[in-house]
Amino acid sequence: MISTRAQRLKPSYIREILQATQQPEMISFAGGLPDASLFPMTQLGLATTQLADDRAAFQYGVSAGLEPLRDWIKQHHHCSENNDVLITTGSQQALDLIARTYLNPGDTVLVESPSYLGALQVFQLAEAQIILIPQTDSGIDTALLAKLIDEHQPKLFYAVPDFHNPTGSRWPAETRQQVARILSHSHTRLIEDAPYAELNYDGEWLPSVTSLCSGPHFFLSSFSKTVTPGVRIGYVVCDLESHKALLRVKQATDLHSSLPMQQLVLNTLSQTTISQHLPAIRAAYANKRDRLVNALQDTFGDKVRFTVPSGGMFLWVVFHHCDTEILAKRGLEEGVAIVPGKAFCPNAEQFGDAARLNFTHATAEQITTGVARLYRAYQASRI
Ligand SMILES: Cc1ncc(COP(=O)(O)O)c(C=O)c1O
Repeated sequence: MISTRAQRLKPSYIREILQATQQPEMISFAGGLPDASLFPMTQLGLATTQLADDRAAFQYGVSAGLEPLRDWIKQHHHCSENNDVLITTGSQQALDLIARTYLNPGDTVLVESPSYLGALQVFQLAEAQIILIPQTDSGIDTALLAKLIDEHQPKLFYAVPDFHNPTGSRWPAETRQQVARILSHSHTRLIEDAPYAELNYDGEWLPSVTSLCSGPHFFLSSFSKTVTPGVRIGYVVCDLESHKALLRVKQATDLHSSLPMQQLVLNTLSQTTISQHLPAIRAAYANKRDRLVNALQDTFGDKVRFTVPSGGMFLWVVFHHCDTEILAKRGLEEGVAIVPGKAFCPNAEQFGDAARLNFTHATAEQITTGVARLYRAYQASRI
């Protein structure tokens, strides 16, 4: 008999339709997949050749992760000596470790609504009570945040301040300052999940929220979007005491993340030519974003509403007079995949007319064709 915890866990819509999106004719705006044609294959090839001569990389490793890779991350994020880095199996594992380390069943977690599906699943599995804070044009309503923290005393506040998944939104500087101020007067710890922070297309750089926070917090990131997701290497930066606590749970979970993959990432990052990689993917993804925006405007006109994101991988689109669960089903019949908005909300009552469209995976031509297919599906499913 499987546990009630596992029974209650809802399957991920996205992982389920990944199967459908494997069909050769399907155009997918559904997953959060990077463009594989932009993977840094030359650097990865050289890194793999170096790995073949590196016996130490195939031995057991330490649970905190490969030290030179941790040093690279510390330098990259200008970590102080009061912080340490734990390498995880994707940032998804960092979320799981934090939940297992800090949450008892029934503990409260505050999350933005809508939110990243993988985080919702982690908190559901930890049997947490999830409190939602709606997203606004300026990220979140900070007065409401203060009120919810006061009322519910959540242990954790999970947020994606940079180029949110699924909405693409970004907290402005003022919101970051205010959130840090509110948290400094509470016992709530921020989990700042920042896998998209480097996919910034329009140039304005903002400080991470955790860099403004005085109390304990967690900063999560990953090489999934900047190098390649298949290596499954992510990390969490936190204070030394939290690091020790997470490390114990990491040891009990999987001993350590794959050492060859950590070394492969480090070998890749150590090559001088890798400095060209991020600017190249930023330019390519900004073009694809514009292509999707233009195709939607040209094809749907005022039947869709969205805010153009200045980074990340997603466009959050509201369709006029439409149930996007029906649209998604019809879309699959037409050969295009999207994720309906309800998939990103635990009570599944909201966002029935919204959908998330990824713009990084499809080619430019597929984006145009995919939007035409989506329009056919929309016409057949309008309510
Ligand atoms: C907001 C967010 N956090 C975490 C993850 C997990 O990333 P990783 O591949 O590092 O496990 C994703 C993946 O898409 C994501 O969108």
